[in-house]
Amino acid sequence: MCGIIGYIGKEKKPLQFIVKGLESLEYRGYDSAGAACIDPKGNLFIKKVKGRVKLLEDLIKKTPQKTNLGIAHTRWATHGEPTVINAHPHVNADNDIAVVHNGIIENHFTLKNELIKKGYSFVSQTDTEVIPHLIEEELKHSLTYQEAFNNAVKKLEGSFSLVVIFKNDPKKRIYAAKMDSPLVVGILKEGFYIASDISSMVQHTKNVIYLKEKQIFISDGISVNIYDLDGNEVHVKPEKITWNVEKAEKKGFETFMLKEIHEQPEILKKIARMRLKNKKIIFEELSLSKAYLKRVKRIYLTACGTAYHACFLGKYYIEEFTGIPAEVILSSEFRYTRPKLGKDKLVICISQSGETADTLASIREAKKYGSKVLSLCNVVGSTIARESEGVIYTHAGIEIGVASTKAYTSQVMTIFLLALYLSEIRGEDKDLNKNLIFKEIRAVGDKISQVFDNVKEIKKGAKKYFSYQGAFYLGRHFNYPTALEGALKNKEISYMHAEGYAAGEMKHGPIALIDNNFLVFCIATKGQVYEKMISNIQEVHARKGLIISLATQGDEKVKRISDTVIYMPYIVEELSPIINIIAFQLMAYYIAQNKGCDIDKPRNLAKSVTVE
Ligand code: M6R
Repeated sequence: MCGIIGYIGKEKKPLQFIVKGLESLEYRGYDSAGAACIDPKGNLFIKKVKGRVKLLEDLIKKTPQKTNLGIAHTRWATHGEPTVINAHPHVNADNDIAVVHNGIIENHFTLKNELIKKGYSFVSQTDTEVIPHLIEEELKHSLTYQEAFNNAVKKLEGSFSLVVIFKNDPKKRIYAAKMDSPLVVGILKEGFYIASDISSMVQHTKNVIYLKEKQIFISDGISVNIYDLDGNEVHVKPEKITWNVEKAEKKGFETFMLKEIHEQPEILKKIARMRLKNKKIIFEELSLSKAYLKRVKRIYLTACGTAYHACFLGKYYIEEFTGIPAEVILSSEFRYTRPKLGKDKLVICISQSGETADTLASIREAKKYGSKVLSLCNVVGSTIARESEGVIYTHAGIEIGVASTKAYTSQVMTIFLLALYLSEIRGEDKDLNKNLIFKEIRAVGDKISQVFDNVKEIKKGAKKYFSYQGAFYLGRHFNYPTALEGALKNKEISYMHAEGYAAGEMKHGPIALIDNNFLVFCIATKGQVYEKMISNIQEVHARKGLIISLATQGDEKVKRISDTVIYMPYIVEELSPIINIIAFQLMAYYIAQNKGCDIDKPRNLAKSVTVE
């Protein structure tokens, strides 16, 4: 997720103007930034920095003033590390086309190879760099800049948005395209603004146009024209917005956490699109060889907090789909448990930030004893990603809320896909119903949205139960980690004492706590362990515990023995943890809201824990 801005108009210092606006897009990522304009001599003027927008602001203080248009970008790395070379804008070899881009160009490998064959050379590791070269190539066969831009956009696959300026365009216009990634036009007094969202423009205008999918925006600074991909003009009416700056950054949600919870359908759909191609699972960034992965005899999974819960699911998935034994170890305990490391033992570590000190220490320990490390990270170029022999990115986009939500579900989906990939390359997938599994993977995004449709019930439950002192979260098998993660979400943002248990463990001690003042969240969605969960719920029911159950749509049995039921859409049980956790994220959220907690910044916590 990156932030992009374009501007055309009569501002006296246009570049400074848009880079200021870029600051409010930093919540979308801030590992590097850059800006470009056409200088008074008609040349492309570009500045880029590694780091925050403030550094870029300092750098462009003395930029050319007489320019009518500019573009700017704040980056959240997806392809290639956060470096100046990988920062946007990206240009063609003649330095006359500049592009800023948000999203992923899924066919960039194919396009890049075709362009290399035609003599184009590349300097960055980004997917974005194919765009200026592709436009240059199209210009050779097109009558106008608009035609070349359109043709290039049509050849790009994925969900993305981009803004482009041309040094030699006689009409001196700015061009943009929206393909499944947000782009909004701001109508100013004397000019136009186009950006990833309205947070960067709310202080200048309340009149906006939300571009729709597959629309092209072109402006000369006096008027705006919007076209479809075939070049037909589309007439759209500007809308009036009422948001303030703070609300705009959060896309209208009251907190980053709630915004991030709601981003999950799109992220899970994106992961499915990226990773599933022609009945195969694709991890194009994975540098560990298939030959090595075939030889692996044991896998250790390690992480902290929420990522540790994703490891737990990783163990279940790996053991379900492959013949490799897998073990989960908390990173803070890794070196004390003395795992039998070595060449044929793979260590998989999972981390959103890629900077967690304990996880990093485990990697170093694993490498010291000859194991290879494969990390699943969200932050590209993070220390953990750099120190691991292999890395797979989870593509959740920047996560600001301290409580991890979208990072978790993207980790779970990615480790699920990795387990399937391992079974595929080791020839252990013969008995798997791949058609069904792929169909279900693709359906996850929409099923998460169905959980949002049920938010009324969740809010009602939160209101009823927020003042209780303690809660258990019970689950079995694939949903045991969901119980652990549900409890962690609740305690970290609402400070309610909550513990996750494997439901079968209740009788061995914890059940002593149950009375009519104790909340018990039970995961009883359909699957192999359903009947066993019903028995566990009955045990709690008999002791008058207050039961809040997650059940599959239409289940009457669970309803009879629960105080509150939250219905979930059906999905194969392996993927049910991704759907079920959404209900618990929302439940924790509304419990915390009822208690008046500072949800994005819970007490005593930090987003990234860089001390052991
Ligand atoms: O950045 P990491 O994934 O390595 O962070 C690990 C934990 O610190 C993190 O998941 C933490 O538990 C979150 N606050 C959970 O919401």
